[in-house]
Order: sequence, then C-alpha cells, then structure tokens
Amino acid sequence: MSWLHLVVFGLLLPETQALLRFGCGQLVTQRFDPLVTPGQVSPHVHQIVGGNAFNLTMHPDLDVPGIATCTTCRFKEDKSNYWTAVMYFKHANGSFARVPQIPNHFTGEYNGGMTVYYNQRPSGNPRVTAFPKGFRMITGRPMDRTNRNFPNTQGEAWALSFRCWQTTGPYDYSNSHAIGPGPFDSINLPNRVCPGGIRSNTFFPTCWDGVNIDSPNHASHVSFFESPADPNVGLFLQDGTCPESHPVKLPQLFFETVWDTRPFNSMYPTDGSQPFVLSMGDPTGYGHHGDYLFGWEGDSLQRAMDNCLDMFGRPADCKELTLISDEEMNSCTLKPQVDERVEDGYLPALPGCNPIQRGPESATMIKDCTAVSTIGVAATPVARGAEVNEAQVTPSP
Ligand SMILES: *[C@@H]1O[C@H](CO)[C@@H](O)[C@H](O)[C@H]1NC(C)=O
Ligand SMILES: *[C@@H]1O[C@H](CO)[C@@H](O)[C@H](O)[C@H]1NC(C)=O
Repeated sequence: MSWLHLVVFGLLLPETQALLRFGCGQLVTQRFDPLVTPGQVSPHVHQIVGGNAFNLTMHPDLDVPGIATCTTCRFKEDKSNYWTAVMYFKHANGSFARVPQIPNHFTGEYNGGMTVYYNQRPSGNPRVTAFPKGFRMITGRPMDRTNRNFPNTQGEAWALSFRCWQTTGPYDYSNSHAIGPGPFDSINLPNRVCPGGIRSNTFFPTCWDGVNIDSPNHASHVSFFESPADPNVGLFLQDGTCPESHPVKLPQLFFETVWDTRPFNSMYPTDGSQPFVLSMGDPTGYGHHGDYLFGWEGDSLQRAMDNCLDMFGRPADCKELTLISDEEMNSCTLKPQVDERVEDGYLPALPGCNPIQRGPESATMIKDCTAVSTIGVAATPVARGAEVNEAQVTPSP
C-alpha cells in the first residue's frame, strides 16, 4: 500500500475495504424532502444530488431510473438521490449566508455537491446485497440537539460527525486521519476555526431487515451493526455483526460533504461561540442527518458491488459502470420550485420557520408558520417582516 493511497484514503484503511468513491454535483437546493414530507414543502432546506427524477413526491413504485434523464453523479447508471441539510453562516448582525460546498479531493471539478461511497469488505465476502427498487432510508435525527453518546463498540458511535480541516490540501493529516476520536472530529459542529473548511461525515446503517424498503420513521427497517468483529479496523467498516432482526448486509453508504467555511473565518466570533448552523436551526450539529433514495438502473449496483473490489474506489477502475464527465454532471440541474430565496447573499432568517434552537432538549416545530408551504405559482410568499436589509427586500406581489 503506497503512501499516496494511504493518505488519500487513509480514513478507510485501504487494506480492509473495497469501495466505490465518486463525486456528485449539486442538483438543486430547496425545501424538498420526498421521504419525510412527500407532497409538502419540507420544514428546512436540503441540498440534493443525483438523478433529475427528484421531486416533491417520490412513491416507492416510481421508476426512478426510467424517469431520470440525467444525473449529477459520476456514474451514468446512478439516478439515486442523496441529500442533507444545508450549512449557513450566522453573521454577528443576525443575517444568514449559505456556506458553499466544494468537491472533495480527487473526485473532479464539478459544482459543490458531495462525495458518495459504497463500501464493503475487501474480498466482497460476505457478499453485500444491493438496495432493492424503491428502497429509501434516513440516518440521523434532525430534531436532536444533544449528543446521544453511543458506546464506542457500536457502529453508530461516530456515524455522524464533523471533520475540522486544518488546510485544504489532500495530504493534510487533518484530511487523512481516521474518522472517530482524535484531534479533528467532533459529533457537534466544531467549536473553533477550521482553516481548511469543515467536512461532514454521514454514515448509514449497513444491516437490513430483508423485507421492507421503508418504515414509518424511514430508519427502523435498517440497523447499524452491533459491534465490530475486529476493533482494530475501526467502527465503520463492514466487520460488525448484524442483529438477528436485520440480518442482511448492505453496502455501507457514506457521504462526505465539504463545506467551504473559509470565506467566513475572518468573521469568526471572538466570544467563544461558533457561527455555523444547520438549516433546521441547529447550531449544535447533533441534528446532522442524511437521506437516501435508491435509483440505480437495473442490477448495476449489485454488479458493481460484485465486481468492483478496488481498494481505492476509483471510478475509472469499475468497468461495470459508465463514467460521465464533469460537464455532463454540471449540466444536470433542477429549478427550485419553492418560491423563496435560500442562497445567494445574506438572508434575514433561515428559510422555513427555523429559529435557532440550542437544546439540549429536542427542537420543536414552530406553530403557525407562515413560510411558503406549496409549490408553483400559487405559492404564498414568506412573511418578510424580519427583513431588515433594504437592498434585499423583494417587493410584495
Ligand atoms: C414532478 O411531479 C410533478 C407532479 O406530479 C410532475 O408534473 C413533474 O413532471 C415531476 N417532475 C419530474 C422531474 O419528474
Ligand atoms: C449583515 O452583514 C452582511 C454582510 O455585510 C450584510 O450583507 C447584511 O445585509 C447585514 N445584515 C443586517 C441585518 O445588517
């Protein structure tokens, strides 16, 4: 194993892992969540990547790869959707600006987005079962404002965390260090300046009940593994034991999102507070969550998991799949359908009704929210009473 590979993929301990690792550019950023709030505008803003079949409602019977005509992900066959909350910077004057996303190291030059991983054991043994048509799941709990302190022996312990990059260089130890306890990761949003930006780490459960493609909370049909078989290989790998209730091993889905906080670091507060907040009004980071809606064409994911056992996960090494260019990825976009501004300059408040809720008790939904709740021309405009910056006031219709 070369030094270069160790550094680039250090977090995954290459000799213990086979993977697909690929970039996905931004598809759209808006208050949509077809998993949790199908048919309704979502309470908070998400950034979404993947196929352009993404919509306000996505019934499990929907032929996602049949409807999508393009994808922002590196593999043409992948019309899945992947999404997370959006990070905002809260200025000392109370206004919010979206924190831009940038591509991760060695994934290409595309618009923002995320890096997606499908991990498995190095030999492909035991065989992982690709997600079936209609499959969807969520990891994390948006209303959480406190650390659940999972024991370190559970797969869930460091499933959701933030990496504080010291530089943006790929060879920086703060990039390659294994995920988990140590100098660079925290379950909460980092309470200090991260000179190179913040990378969020989002792991999904790897054990499935083998029957249900979804569940009422979008989480209980899957489970994290109970304990790693070999504690030396880390907690995230495919080495844990699946509980009897969820015996089927899935590929380990993992997102890395690189938030370019650098432009805001010069405005970092000096009073010990930290200025970043997730779109659901979460300044703690404990509400960090990710959503997945499977949409690979035919059996392409299973074929890739069976045959692409490269320990570095380079897209070009997976001959089962078709690569598309950065330009093709960038040309796949959707227009936001919610009539409100969620980015491009400072906003007077987080979109939706998301006042900052610091916890530690769980966040609560705001009653009598007047934010836009429908899409299309009949949309009700957001109450703009809080708008203070004249230059940004949009005339009322
Ligand atoms: C989204 O759903 C609406 C309503 O069903 C439909 O008209 C539209 O074509 C869908 N968009 C996509 C991208 O499938
Ligand atoms: C806060 O500062 C930003 C950056 O200068 C500015 O764009 C925004 O309008 C300000 N907001 C208020 C409420 O003054």
